[in-house]
Amino acid sequence: MQTRIWNIVALMLLVTVSVSKAETCESLLYESDVPLAFDIRAYETITTFPGSLMGTCSDRCLRDKSCLAVEICESGGTKYCRLVRGWTPGYLGVTGTETCKQYAVVLNTTCGALEFYDRETAQCVQQDVCNFELTTEPTCFLTETTGDIFDWTRRSGSTSSVSTGPPSAKVGSYYKYTETSSPRLTGDTAWLVSNRVFEDKTYCLSMYYHMYGSTQGTLKIQTITGSDPPVTHWELSGDQGNTWHSLDKLNLPLNNNTMIRFEGIRGTNYYSDMSIDYVVLWPFACP
Ligand SMILES: *[C@@H]1O[C@H](CO)[C@@H](O)[C@H](O)[C@H]1NC(C)=O
Ligand SMILES: *[C@@H]1O[C@H](CO)[C@@H](O)[C@H](O)[C@H]1NC(C)=O
Repeated sequence: MQTRIWNIVALMLLVTVSVSKAETCESLLYESDVPLAFDIRAYETITTFPGSLMGTCSDRCLRDKSCLAVEICESGGTKYCRLVRGWTPGYLGVTGTETCKQYAVVLNTTCGALEFYDRETAQCVQQDVCNFELTTEPTCFLTETTGDIFDWTRRSGSTSSVSTGPPSAKVGSYYKYTETSSPRLTGDTAWLVSNRVFEDKTYCLSMYYHMYGSTQGTLKIQTITGSDPPVTHWELSGDQGNTWHSLDKLNLPLNNNTMIRFEGIRGTNYYSDMSIDYVVLWPFACP
């Protein structure tokens, strides 16, 4: 029944778009299902709509060049839609039971498999996302480095210690975390650094993090430009409870001499496993 409703909605959308927007060659094409509340990319939520929800949303999205996709959602009988600045072709599957349907705006342009079309710059842009589902992820812009004390670990399911670490990944099956049991000591650091050359502009970073444990340490997101000392743009310490949190919007000013660094610092005991998942770097300032 659900599927049939969405099929009808999708058909209505295609009809609406082809009638009103054919001359601009713009359209909204169905991309994927996304979990409800997977809203890191949303910059506006529309809950009141005079006409049809799809009509209102697609019209608003097509008129605003910063809108790259819409999500049509239903929760507890309430329908709403979100205008989305970027979207997630790297997304691998739905984990929750409630989902939204995501429709991306596409021009008559074919972008590469790991790219999306940015209407403001009129370019296909690279999708920088670390979901950690694969050991080597072509879209991931973060990698291990030297100079720290230990490495981040890729993991599925819970970590090996009780009372710390997540029960499972936030998106997909795998995440990365700092394993802080012996031989790790207080203050030991684990770094992930960027492996890309950036343009001279502000990027937007979003991610999920999990920092559960009574002796939880510190997670920092820094930039390092040339030989300058690191600049910390976001930092959090201590127990954040046994739940995934989202960091929705972190502006990072970058240039072709800048490296992004994630620094995990172990707390005073092994209840200090910290995790990250679905780290996305959007090639524009946060909306
Ligand atoms: C896209 O462009 C091609 C070549 O110009 C054209 O043949 C095709 O009909 C266009 N498709 C749409 C959906 O506009
Ligand atoms: C890096 O940016 C500077 C300043 O915009 C420019 O002069 C230089 O050519 C760039 N270097 C590379 C390798 O792109």
